[in-house]
Amino acid sequence: MKIAIGNDHTATNLKKEIMEYVKSLGHEVINFGTDEYESCHYPEYGKKVGQAVAAGEADCGILICGTGVGISLAANKVKGIRCGVCSDTTTAHLIKEHNNANIIAFGARIVGVEKAKDIVKAYLEAEFMGGRHQVRVDMISKMEE
Ligand code: RB5
Repeated sequence: MKIAIGNDHTATNLKKEIMEYVKSLGHEVINFGTDEYESCHYPEYGKKVGQAVAAGEADCGILICGTGVGISLAANKVKGIRCGVCSDTTTAHLIKEHNNANIIAFGARIVGVEKAKDIVKAYLEAEFMGGRHQVRVDMISKMEE
């Protein structure tokens, strides 16, 4: 898969680790930055990754800020994006299976490197279940009209 990734300054080191991990799983990564450590604005990166996923340039996305919250809020403003914060592997597979999330977010101040890798793996390996969950996802999509 092609995976878009973005982060703010709190998550530059974790993003680099996650990029390498995602590549080691056989995926292609499109890095939207930041690769810097100076304070920056997370909405910029949430928007970039959201737009790339919504446009089909990437199959899904990974966003990281301090908590995962701010950057997920920004991504969810892009039409067609379903992004949620995952701080554990159960949420990470259910967010795909039930919510068909096309981006996951997590916090560099909340999860360590190994937990973050497990979260990413759980999300990437999960599949949307459809059925009753499709009905609910469609209800969310209708709210964007
Ligand atoms: C930056 O200080 C911090 O606010 C940001 O990384 C994120 O946690 C916001 O939700």
